[in-house]
Amino acid sequence: MNEIAIQNKTVREIAGQHTDSYKIFHKYGIDFCCGGKRLLSDVCEEKGIEISEIANDFVALEKTPSDQKDWNTETLENLINHIVDTHHQYLQDDLPRLFHLIQKVASRHGERDAHLYKVLEIFVSMANELLAHIEKEERVLFPMIVEMEKTGDISTQILMPILAMEAEHEEVGKALEELDRLTESYAIKPNMCASYQALYVGLKQLEEDLKLHIHKENNILFPQVQQ
Ligand SMILES: [Fe+2]
Ligand SMILES: [Fe+2]
Repeated sequence: MNEIAIQNKTVREIAGQHTDSYKIFHKYGIDFCCGGKRLLSDVCEEKGIEISEIANDFVALEKTPSDQKDWNTETLENLINHIVDTHHQYLQDDLPRLFHLIQKVASRHGERDAHLYKVLEIFVSMANELLAHIEKEERVLFPMIVEMEKTGDISTQILMPILAMEAEHEEVGKALEELDRLTESYAIKPNMCASYQALYVGLKQLEEDLKLHIHKENNILFPQVQQ
């Protein structure tokens, strides 16, 4: 993808064409999962990034073998199974673990580090929303998409749940931003005990997995359904 190829595209369009593109957006701090509907040129201007630099990175990326599957060439059902088995399962396993950890760390160190109470509050609300969210995807939206792919019958009824899921992704994005701010991007400090450090490592992993998860839904799965 050269400079001309990315000039007038939205972040979402570029992200959807290349599964690995999230690595480049991540490097430049560009929101590729929830704020992906903006033109890349606008985002670059706002952040003071030269679009030619990003274009060069894309050229280099296209030459390197990918460690990700090209989900654009897979069936939607395969992509959905992958999302459920990998990213939804990760949330089912890790949210309860992180909840116990954050409760423990906040009760021990909250007096000294008051931001931990706020981290706990945001985490609990985000975790509850996420568990309800993935249930809606698995029970309602994903079966509709699989059925649509099998029968070829495209119903406009599918657009409403997609919009609803996208709106919920945006809320998750806001919560992640707030957690990132409160924890100074999960910076480990020398006076942190082992649990405190494990919490920050776990929350950072959660952020990374959620961004990749939402990228696959917002930028690859949903646009293919809408096409
Ligand atoms: Fe999901
Ligand atoms: Fe989702």
